[in-house]
Amino acid sequence: MGPFKALGRRAANFVDLQWTLAIRGLERVAPLARGRLLDVGCGDKPYLELFSRYVSEYVGVEHEAVFRATASSARQRGPDVFYDGKRLPFDDGVFDTVLSVQTLEHTPQPQDLIREMARVLHPTGILLLSAPFSFRLHEQPHDYFRYSPHGLRALCAEAGLEIERCEPMGNLWSLLGHKLNSYLALNVARASGVAQRLDKLGHESAQSQRPRYWLLPAVALGMTSVSMAARVLDRVAPDETESLGYVIVARHRALSAA
Ligand SMILES: C[S@@+](CC[C@H](N)C(=O)[O-])C[C@H]1O[C@@H](n2cnc3c(N)ncnc32)[C@H](O)[C@@H]1O
Repeated sequence: MGPFKALGRRAANFVDLQWTLAIRGLERVAPLARGRLLDVGCGDKPYLELFSRYVSEYVGVEHEAVFRATASSARQRGPDVFYDGKRLPFDDGVFDTVLSVQTLEHTPQPQDLIREMARVLHPTGILLLSAPFSFRLHEQPHDYFRYSPHGLRALCAEAGLEIERCEPMGNLWSLLGHKLNSYLALNVARASGVAQRLDKLGHESAQSQRPRYWLLPAVALGMTSVSMAARVLDRVAPDETESLGYVIVARHRALSAA
């Protein structure tokens, strides 16, 4: 990646509160990862660098039909294994870590997918999963659900897993800030094509709308202000009944009870 693109991407990531908070949440749980890691719904493997220092192997698996239907042409790298979205093509208990980031909302059968993650997870293994609580429609029509901590707990319990940590991805102000910034970027500046050139929105169809370049400086300034204000307000006036999503850490029930 050239220096200008790298700078543009850093700036885009700073104003993208969802990305910032997801990465922050994953950074906190990444040291728990170990051994063989399976990333379910790995997309373009954006978390490879973050996790590879903790694990001996990083395997990415994808639902072939959904992946091919939603991947944009800007794709950098992809999965190691494809499957049909039903049974993960691995034996029972062969992974020490199962990672899944913003994927659970994209399957019409989330309980089946959690059960499959539990099946391939070693009895002493760890599940690290993030899912959105409030996020705009994306990757349509493959966008089915949003999740509360209680819903995630119920899905995990049915699969024999127990959640030992559940961390919100920001609260009310990040949520409002993210929605406002998305509107400014996508509807006002029509910058989705620019974002894709910075390797963002990697699973939205390729964007051909012409950006409103003359609005970009004002929009960038507005988004930066919103993003900074949201970070501060999340701390000084938190409302934790709202969040962009949750990052959970779960283990097989028998083990977490021991
Ligand atoms: C929002 S993208 C997230 C990709 C990546 N985890 C990230 O955070 O950039 C959701 C991904 O889930 C994949 N997906 C949808 N249903 C799936 C399933 N049943 N099993 C595995 N992956 C699935 C899609 O193909 C898509 O790549």
